[in-house]
Amino acid sequence: MTTPTEQRPITPADITEAVIRRYDACIDPRLRELMQALIAHLHGFIGDVGLTPDEWAAAIRVLTDTGHITNERRQEFILWSDTLGVSMLVDAIANQVPAGATESTVLGPFYVPNSPQREYGESMLDEDSVGTPAWVHGRVLDMDGTPIPGAELDLWQNDADMLYAVQKEEGPEGHLRGRYRVRDDGSFGFVAVRPVPYPIPNDGPVGKMLDATGRHPWRPAHIHAIVRAPGFRTTVTHFFDEESEYLDSDTVFAVKPSLLRSFVERSPDDPERPPGIEGPWVSMESDVVLVSGDAGAEIVDHGRTA
Ligand code: BEZ
Ligand code: FE
Repeated sequence: MTTPTEQRPITPADITEAVIRRYDACIDPRLRELMQALIAHLHGFIGDVGLTPDEWAAAIRVLTDTGHITNERRQEFILWSDTLGVSMLVDAIANQVPAGATESTVLGPFYVPNSPQREYGESMLDEDSVGTPAWVHGRVLDMDGTPIPGAELDLWQNDADMLYAVQKEEGPEGHLRGRYRVRDDGSFGFVAVRPVPYPIPNDGPVGKMLDATGRHPWRPAHIHAIVRAPGFRTTVTHFFDEESEYLDSDTVFAVKPSLLRSFVERSPDDPERPPGIEGPWVSMESDVVLVSGDAGAEIVDHGRTA
């Protein structure tokens, strides 16, 4: 029999090993893999930085505050995922595309399904805006450059006051949102406003983290699009204004060079001015190139952040 003095003290590595082994009996192989890797990396992080009890208590408070601020309109966990680059990493692993295809980027928390169905050329504005009118047009094509007549664009963007319609208590819900089916030649066209940069919601734990670490909460100007077509992979993407501020420091790491677009200034008497636009305006042309395959999982809003 060993006496207490002969027993080796338990080490941090013993604890990690014991926890990992506890999942050996997990029947679901993927769940076992995820849990064992999670424990290994989480314990590894704690050991690497020598996390103190006070620091761990602070982390628990941050998680608690994140839960408390989250409700059906505010999704602070997604803001953590976005600002830590996790959303973009998961997307990059899931959605690799060949050169020439439209690249994907984050969905963000302001997507709302079932936007108003609109006709070619129709405005996405359901109320007046002080923003610069924008004519946005292009075609949806396959990898060979052939138009995809059955494609649909599901679009949403912010107004000149920096807000998305879902962030406002008042005002029409469908403002600056719309679903457009392309014409037989794959073409789409709609009236929008030039999007503006905006800060992600920063009055909660994520905002505190950004502040404490010297990071800003801003995103560069963009229009969101989900492009769907039967027989093609659904693409969740943005069109970024190539002249926007914050392209080099998007707080959610969502900028990809292939998604930068030119918003060209046009004069009021330009003969190409579409109906419904008055005064100075801009135009932006962008094709969307889809990859054939399964559409993938249906995209749902994952809790709005107001
Ligand atoms: C957005 O683009 O709407 C967005 C993305 C991530 C966090 C917050 C907003
Ligand atoms: Fe956005």
